[in-house]
This record gives sequence, structure tokens and C-alpha cells, in this order.
Amino acid sequence: MENYVLRNGVEIPKIGYGTWKTPDGDTCIQAVETAIKTGYRHIDAAAVYGNEVSVGIALQNSGVERKELFITGKVWNTERGYGRTMRAFEKTCKDLQTDYLDLYLIHWPASPSQYKCWKELNSETWEALTDLYKAGKVRAIGVSNFRCRHLLPLLQEEIIPMVNQLQLHPGMTQDDTIALCREYDILPEAYSPLGNGKLLNSDSLRMIAERYGKSQAQICVKWSIQHGFLPLPKSLHEERMKMNRSVDDFELKEEDMKALDVLEGFGTGNDPDQITF
Ligand code: A2P
Repeated sequence: MENYVLRNGVEIPKIGYGTWKTPDGDTCIQAVETAIKTGYRHIDAAAVYGNEVSVGIALQNSGVERKELFITGKVWNTERGYGRTMRAFEKTCKDLQTDYLDLYLIHWPASPSQYKCWKELNSETWEALTDLYKAGKVRAIGVSNFRCRHLLPLLQEEIIPMVNQLQLHPGMTQDDTIALCREYDILPEAYSPLGNGKLLNSDSLRMIAERYGKSQAQICVKWSIQHGFLPLPKSLHEERMKMNRSVDDFELKEEDMKALDVLEGFGTGNDPDQITF
């Protein structure tokens, strides 16, 4: 199966191409064009990545029809609240040269370390996303980096998130949040599915990869998919882009999935309640 189906029936390609840290300008244009050329149809962008204009140029240059592409955007932390989110959305669409997005996410929850009224702020931002969805300007809406305590209040809303994009990779499984996502049919997307590349040096991962005759990166992507996550690997290199989405011809055994779940030494990610950005 090439796609997951979101709660509202919208289809989303099972592997996306991430653009975080991709240098703006020619590097980004080239990378996104190459990703599309090698078969990616799902591009994960965000205003804070500082490269949306370049992503937009690449989408145009690709020659692929807009309706064949699945484009995600994210509202950044400085733009929370109803009015600002609406304006941020318009700017993102302009920069990406599109008049709608397939998916729009709240990039990080407002944190209690910074805001007394963090719940209200998240709810106002969510209201903007809900209105964009009802107006047909986005095909699906969701959140990113929301752990249970941030997600729970939004589950009382009229429309609840369809996606939660989290740092997920071998050694980082975010079990509580994933369990809540499953209960409410919220698709977990996995950012940094290769642990930002650092994971690929793990000896345990290398040994598993050798047994399957696959690369470490392919094992990580497959691990994500077998968990029902949607991985967003990124690479600037064509061969790696191709490799990272060639994972259909093998299946990880249960014992290897379990060993990967508890791979040690690869951090716990940023705590959204502690962030200072
Ligand atoms: P590069 O762009 O030079 O290929 P993540 O997606 O978890 O954030 O990881 C991204 C990092 O992993 C990048 O540094 C990228 O480097 C590297 N990477 C991506 N795919 C592969 C691969 N197939 N083999 C080795 N390194 C990879």
C-alpha cells in the first residue's frame, strides 16, 4: 500500500521527504526537484525552515501536477493565535506557490514554561486551522510535537487533529503519545526517522541491517512503517533518496522490531514543556 488514509478519508503518501535543515537556495531547489524526480510525492515543509520559497520553486520546476503532490506546512511558534496563524498560512501558500495545502500543522504546542495561558493559546491556533479546513484551504489539519498533555484538550474540539508529527526512530518510541494517537485515529508522522543520521553509526543497527542485506537507513524507514508511522527521511543525495523509499521487499521480524524499539543512546528529543524557542 502506497498511502495511509487519514480519518477524513484523505490519502497521504506513506513516506514523505523532509526539508528541515536543507540549505535555502539552489541546494534546496535541487534537492526537492530530485526527490520528486525519484518518486516522492509528499513534501514536508515548514515556515521556520527558512526555505519555503525554494521548495515552491522546486514544486513548480518539477512539472508534476499540484493535485499529484501532498504538501505539508507548519505554523511557527511566533505566529500562534488566530489572526497570526491566518496570516502565516497565507504567507506559506504564497512562498510555496500554491493556493491550498494538503496538511497544515501547529509546529510546537505553546509551553507552560513560557505561557500561563498555554492551553488557550493552543486552542486559538487550533481554531484558525479548523476554519482553514472548513473553508477548504487545507485538506487535513494536525499538530506536531504534542505530547499527551497538549493533545488532550484538543480532543474536546469539534474537529480533532488528524496527524501528530513527532520525533520517532529506533530508540525513541514515545509510547504514551502514540497510544493516545491510536485511540483517536491520529496518524503519527516520524520526523528524524534516521535519528538525524547519527543512528546510522549504531553497531546494533548495523548488525540487523547486515542480516537483511539492507542499509541501516532502510531498516529505520521500515521500522517506522511497521509501527504504522509515516517516516519523513531527508537526504541531499539522489541515491540515498531512492534507497530510503525502497523498503517494500522485506519485513522486519518481531524480535528485531523489539530490539530496535529499545536501541540505547539516541536521546529523548526536545521536551515541548521546556522549549525556549
Ligand atoms: P545526506 O543529506 O548527506 O544524505 P533524518 O532524516 O533522520 O533527519 O536524517 C538525515 C541525515 O541522514 C542527513 O544527515 C542525511 O545526510 C543522512 N542520510 C539520509 N539518508 C541516508 C542514507 N540512506 N545513508 C546514509 N545517510 C543518510
